[in-house]
Amino acid sequence: MKADPPNLPRILILASGSGTNLQALIDASRERDFPGQIIALGCNQPKAFALERAAQANLETFVVNHKDFGSREEFDAALMAYILRYNPDLIVLAGFMRILTTGFVRAFRGKLVNIHPSLLPLYTGLNTHQRALDAGDKTHGASIHFVTEELDGGPVIAKAEVAVAPEDTAETLAEKVQKKEHLLYPIVVRWLCEGRVQLGRDHILFDGQSMDTPVCLPDS
Ligand code: GAR
Repeated sequence: MKADPPNLPRILILASGSGTNLQALIDASRERDFPGQIIALGCNQPKAFALERAAQANLETFVVNHKDFGSREEFDAALMAYILRYNPDLIVLAGFMRILTTGFVRAFRGKLVNIHPSLLPLYTGLNTHQRALDAGDKTHGASIHFVTEELDGGPVIAKAEVAVAPEDTAETLAEKVQKKEHLLYPIVVRWLCEGRVQLGRDHILFDGQSMDTPVCLPDS
């Protein structure tokens, strides 16, 4: 394992696919005042393009292929063993498309965040863009939340909104939402690294104050 710069919070990213959010975080982490260090990328898909992005950035990577395991519990135990080697302060799910077991989620409570392509609590799970279109929503977006036992149901830190145009398809909407994700995730990861955002017993603390509603980045 490489020697890291001292004292900055250690960020481990998990991804399954293209890794555009990973890229946004890598780019942000190159800013001189970025308050954290990305120490590794873990993937469950051996062919994920995210692995190439990480290699380009000289990041350490590891693959734990879910197909090699007979159950979610076994997969999560193997993933956890890898993660613990890196001793991360923050685990960032960036398009990591596996449902995590309760044991895994509890072990990393308060350190595990996810980005989801909808304005939670709307549209947990898959096909969020099509579901927003089918519902006739005028506004759609993305949310970043602490991961808890409930799928896509943990306390939401921040959302970014996108106006839905009449001509939008699931693909155009996905593109618009991803652009916002790339803005929002680095901001939230900064706050987490700075200790400004924390998970309390059942709510979020922002600068030590209980946060009633998520931060919202409106469409511009
Ligand atoms: C992102 O849009 C993210 O919101 C979504 O996967 C995409 C990953 O893109 N995550 C989920 O659907 C999680 N339930 P990326 O690999 O290009 O960052």
